[in-house]
Amino acid sequence: MTTATATPILQGRDLVKTFGRVVALDGANLELYQGEVLAVVGDNGAGKSSLIKCFSGAHTPDAGEMHVMGEKVEFKSTNEARRHGVETVFQTLAVAPALDISSNLYLGREKRKPGLLGTVFRTLDKKRMRQESAQHLKDLGISTLQNITQAVETLSGGQRQAVAVARAAAFGSQVIILDEPTAALGVNESARVLKMIQDLRDRGLSVILISHNMPQVFEVADRIHVARLGKRAAVVTPQSHSMNDVVAIMTGAMKVPEEEQQLTPVR
Ligand SMILES: Nc1ncnc2c1ncn2[C@@H]1O[C@H](COP(=O)(O)OP(=O)(O)OP(=O)(O)O)[C@@H](O)[C@H]1O
Ligand SMILES: [Mg+2]
Repeated sequence: MTTATATPILQGRDLVKTFGRVVALDGANLELYQGEVLAVVGDNGAGKSSLIKCFSGAHTPDAGEMHVMGEKVEFKSTNEARRHGVETVFQTLAVAPALDISSNLYLGREKRKPGLLGTVFRTLDKKRMRQESAQHLKDLGISTLQNITQAVETLSGGQRQAVAVARAAAFGSQVIILDEPTAALGVNESARVLKMIQDLRDRGLSVILISHNMPQVFEVADRIHVARLGKRAAVVTPQSHSMNDVVAIMTGAMKVPEEEQQLTPVR
């Protein structure tokens, strides 16, 4: 596959999103390719969450086009985005604290018992969900969760994040979007989440990582999409630009000519 002809797995063209008089997205573009980690960085209010919410099905853009694997899409719900293989861990973590790990993984897509028990009486197949959850976490290399029946509210912040990422990575997703997954985490827990992101990429999935943490971005990103004032200011790489450069692009102090940007995949 030559990089010049690769089709983006996610593509946004001239996306606009306004909230009353606030312009969150002002003609934003985005391309995500298969098997890459694309970091999305930018100052507070630059439109990062608004941008990914269009692809998550949480927002409907006012104008612009979105494509998933070359197919034009207009998501009306997060479930619709999920059906296209796009899973999101939102900035405000969406887990059900009182439920156990296995129930969280299957939230909204519970498995029913076979036969009449499941189809008529809607009885949940808890045993099967627990077995499959345990296997799934093992496949993802998550070993810090020992008891699949533990309530999520009793987990540490990093373990909770791991459940949210595991949930997103389950069920044949192609694209995982993570909005500030390590913002509330300690050093070890952050390292685990970063490791998971790299593992997902190595399994061929595509990841969008929104983060304010420059060292983490430079550690895991293949490409860095810099958002500014509701637009894409530039796409660079950890090799082509320094952390200071990226901050300068975020604030508008540095402009990068298009021929010096990395608009196609690096791997
Ligand atoms: N639901 C909403 N209603 C009104 N304004 C909104 C809404 N969501 C976002 N905005 C506004 O749109 C702009 C972009 O917000 P967004 O959340 O996308 O920024 P962000 O880049 O994710 O910032 P942060 O780094 O702080 O998370 C901001 O000015 C914000 O106040
Ligand atoms: Mg945000």
